[in-house]
Amino acid sequence: MNYPKQYETYFLTKDNKKITIRPLKTTDEHLLKDLYYSLDKQSMYFRFCEVGRNFCDTVIQQEVNIDYHNIFCLCALVGEISNKEMVGTAGFYLNPNTNTAEFSFVVKKLWRNKGIGQYLLHHLIMIANEKGIKGFYGTIHFQNKNTIHIIKKSGYTKVSPPEVGEKELFFELFFEKE
Ligand SMILES: CC(C)(COP(=O)(O)OP(=O)(O)OC[C@H]1O[C@@H](n2cnc3c(N)ncnc32)[C@H](O)[C@@H]1OP(=O)(O)O)[C@@H](O)C(=O)NCCC(=O)NCCS
Repeated sequence: MNYPKQYETYFLTKDNKKITIRPLKTTDEHLLKDLYYSLDKQSMYFRFCEVGRNFCDTVIQQEVNIDYHNIFCLCALVGEISNKEMVGTAGFYLNPNTNTAEFSFVVKKLWRNKGIGQYLLHHLIMIANEKGIKGFYGTIHFQNKNTIHIIKKSGYTKVSPPEVGEKELFFELFFEKE
């Protein structure tokens, strides 16, 4: 599928910084790699359920090579053309059997609590909704309080507590009331 330019937009943070929000492109490899390698251990663990993950060229190429249908990723960018920085990304991965999609996102620590994470989520919900997808799901570490807060306030949400001995809770976020 062609690059969906219609989903490019801008967002002003709570402290008035202009952020470009747009679908990820194949040419974003280096920016995405820099973002991932900038994450501290806890952020890495919350996002990928492991620390020390290898983001070699092959892995990153797979991440930016998306079809904008079954897999759709957005990124948040700051800076000028010659000096761009990716400060966040969010994506969904469709499960055609349930017509729901696994959701995940990450924002650079210095850029958190400015509304970027929620803007990415809401823009992605709008896109998924347009594609007829019913909702998002995923797992969240029980100590990941801000993500739990964001997910709970973003739609019709069901959160299942962790199974005995587990640390991850399971969430389902439906765009419309079932
Ligand atoms: C989760 C994450 C993407 C959020 O990004 P962000 O840009 O900081 O998100 P926002 O600024 O839009 O929103 C943060 C919200 O969390 C709230 N928050 C912050 N700390 C909190 C805490 N300890 N407990 C509860 N809520 C908290 C903020 O008040 C804000 O909510 P509000 O707008 O209702 O006031 C970011 O923290 C991150 O990258 N974390 C590491 C990776 C991760 O955990 N990913 C999710 C798993 S897939």
